[in-house]
Amino acid sequence: MTELQIVTLPDEVLRKKARPVTRFDDNLQTFIDDMIETMRVANGVGLAAPQIGQSLQLAVIETLPETDEEGNEVENSRELFVIINPRIVWESRDVIDGIEGCLSIPGYVGEVERAYAVRVRAQDRRGKQIKLRLKGWTARIFQHEIDHLNGVLYIDKLTDREKFWTDEEYYNMRQAELEEEAEEGEEVEETAVKETEIRD
Ligand code: CO
Repeated sequence: MTELQIVTLPDEVLRKKARPVTRFDDNLQTFIDDMIETMRVANGVGLAAPQIGQSLQLAVIETLPETDEEGNEVENSRELFVIINPRIVWESRDVIDGIEGCLSIPGYVGEVERAYAVRVRAQDRRGKQIKLRLKGWTARIFQHEIDHLNGVLYIDKLTDREKFWTDEEYYNMRQAELEEEAEEGEEVEETAVKETEIRD
C-alpha cells in the first residue's frame, strides 16, 4: 500500500463538489487501500478522497477504539467503513457540540454542532448498496466526511467564531479546565482531552 499526499487549505479541490464514483474496478480497490493506509499513518479517524486531490464521492472512516475500565484499548473495537456516493437520509433533531479538527487544516480545532444520530445510504467498495445507522462520535465523523464530498469544511460550521483555536491554545485551555476541576474535587473527564485528537 502507498501512503498518499494529503492536500491542505487553500487547495481548491477541497471546495468542489466531488463527482460520483461509477467504476468499481481494480484501480478503485487500490486507491481505497491507499486511502485507508494514509488515514492510519496520519492518525485520522476519517479521510475523504478530495483530501488527497481526487474529486470523488468516496471516504474511509475508522472509529476510535473502545476502552475497558482500566482505559486499555479493547481489541478489534475499531470499526472500518468505506462509503461511496453516500447521502444522509435522516438526521436526529438532537444535536451535540463537539471539537473537530481536519487533516486538511492542520494545527487547528473548532467547535461544531452536529446531529447526534444519522442514517446514511451509500455503496460499499464493491458497489453494493448499504444502509448505516450511526450515533455519537461515529455519526459526527460521517457528517464531517460527507461534508468534504460537498466542498464543505468544519470551519464553515463553527458554533462561534471565537470557538476556533490552535492545537496549543486548545490543549492549554483544556489543561487549565481540568486542573480547575481537579482542585474543586470534581471527577475529571478523561475523554475530554482524548477527543481533541480526532482528525478527519
Ligand atoms: Co476533514
